Amino acid sequence: MVPALLKWIGNKQRFAETIISYMPETFNNYYEPFLGSGAVLAELLHMDATRLFPHFQHAYGSDILPFLIDIFEITKEKPDTLVRYYQKEITEYYQNPENKYTEIQARFNQKHNAYDFCLLSRTCYSGVIRFRKADGYMSTPRGPHKPIQPETFEKRIEQWHDLLQKATFSCQNFVEAMNYPQQGDVVYCDPPYTHSQSIIYGAQGFEIETLWIKIAECKNRGAKVILSINGMKDSKKTDISITPPEGLFERKLLVNCGTSMIDRLQNNGKEMKNKNVDDQLLLTW
Ligand SMILES: C[S@@+](CC[C@H](N)C(=O)[O-])C[C@H]1O[C@@H](n2cnc3c(N)ncnc32)[C@H](O)[C@@H]1O
Repeated sequence: MVPALLKWIGNKQRFAETIISYMPETFNNYYEPFLGSGAVLAELLHMDATRLFPHFQHAYGSDILPFLIDIFEITKEKPDTLVRYYQKEITEYYQNPENKYTEIQARFNQKHNAYDFCLLSRTCYSGVIRFRKADGYMSTPRGPHKPIQPETFEKRIEQWHDLLQKATFSCQNFVEAMNYPQQGDVVYCDPPYTHSQSIIYGAQGFEIETLWIKIAECKNRGAKVILSINGMKDSKKTDISITPPEGLFERKLLVNCGTSMIDRLQNNGKEMKNKNVDDQLLLTW
């Protein structure tokens, strides 16, 4: 399993292998239009996509957050700059976490940039990236944990740098990004969860109806689409899923995700029984 570059709530790191196991036996290009921390894309490249999928050509990752996409670009093209930045800033953070967090957050909110965004993801509360609705201010408080050591971060950057050579990144709305997949390509969509994530990731504008249209277009062009979406919670008692248009998907699978991170945060400290979340994987073929 590829160690996480960013601390990111709702990341698919632990399920990446399972998700990949449901991909078609052969495909050309891989598209991930809701990239987030890039856990599935990185795992696919780590598992050596060219060996697993003989026709594999290239991976394309995109997301609506420009400073997130820049982190992947920097890791691919000039990893040393990020390693040095992390080393300096996190060493200072260890001395005085509260003040340093306030400083990083203020700097990021003044001028959105990948370097400070990377630090925020590593230091904020549980990797919850929350932007204030009114003005887009990144408002997550500091987390109580100790962010990973600069040496550990450096090793991860080195590993990701190697993996990302077979990937291309762009800052795009999914509406645009999903125009590109063609016959023989695979698209993996992990959009913001409709029931609980509308305030995080700055995703207030996300409309599931538009996603149905874009998935149908990909399918009509001959691309295969996998969608992760809310499944059941309360150990299969409450259906928190949304209903896709009839006939869009051919198969529906449930992937157990353990306790939802968001529920865990909302139930701070309270015991949680029967709170497993199953993610639905919907496949268009
Ligand atoms: C659930 S996260 C993806 C998590 C990812 N699978 C991982 O393992 O880290 C959803 C992502 O969708 C992005 N997003 C939200 N609205 C979007 C849009 N309209 N177009 C493209 N990306 C969007 C968010 O910025 C966020 O990174």
